[in-house]
Amino acid sequence: MPTYVILLGPPASGKGTQAAILKDYLGLPHVASGDLFRYNLKHQTPLGLQAKTYMDRGALVPDDVTIAMVLDRLAQEDCAGGALLDGFPRTLAQAQALDHALAEHGRRISRVLNIQVPDDVLVERVSGRRICRTCGETYHIRFKPPKTPGVCDLDGGELYQRDDDKPETVRNRLSVYWKQTSPLVDYYRQQGVLVDIDGNQPIEDVTAQLKEALANL
Ligand code: AP5
Ligand code: MG
Ligand code: ZN
Repeated sequence: MPTYVILLGPPASGKGTQAAILKDYLGLPHVASGDLFRYNLKHQTPLGLQAKTYMDRGALVPDDVTIAMVLDRLAQEDCAGGALLDGFPRTLAQAQALDHALAEHGRRISRVLNIQVPDDVLVERVSGRRICRTCGETYHIRFKPPKTPGVCDLDGGELYQRDDDKPETVRNRLSVYWKQTSPLVDYYRQQGVLVDIDGNQPIEDVTAQLKEALANL
């Protein structure tokens, strides 16, 4: 039975950081809707240009577009054994569409990890985040600094700040999370697949708690 693990949590809660570690631990591909949109934007595809108009405001990209993009990704060969989902689903409609698509193949969500972090900590994390232009590796100027400022440890790529990490946009992303995404916590809790994770700890302690929550998959 393929394994589908969802990392659920507000902006900057550490979904991407932890996914980069857990994908090897679980042996599953990391499927991040935000990364897929940014990849499309980098290559100036119609999907990327459309998504940008929403991302720049910190709003969600419409469900139909997002669902089609992610289900298409999950149908690719490397996802035959399942996937580690990051940033999707983010609305009830997305969650239901995913459940439905999996059920068609007799599959279901294995576990949802609900990473909890207070809003004021999230704002600080976003403001110090830096990302490698070449490989997408995520850093933080205080909490996960690169060896040389502005340069990726892995490939020497240039580190940049995401357009939507400006303080005004971040406030909107947080309010969108509380309005549109947080209802998924109850949705998955009712399915009996949700585990709460304290995301307000050092990165390696969060990883340890996540691994514990995944131990009996
Ligand atoms: P997306 O890219 O998914 O952004 P997000 O959910 O806002 O989450 P982030 O990527 O900002 O945070 P993260 O949890 O990955 O944290 P990270 O590990 O980087 O989405 C962007 C946009 O795309 C959306 O606004 C929307 O427009 C669109 N979109 C995407 N998915 C969509 C969907 N399903 N439907 C509709 N629209 C969608 O960590 C953050 C920082 O903190 C880093 O600097 C990191 O080094 C640091 N850090 C991490 N963990 C710790 C720790 N434990 N202690 C200290 N620092 C830490
Ligand atoms: Mg991310
Ligand atoms: Zn890099």
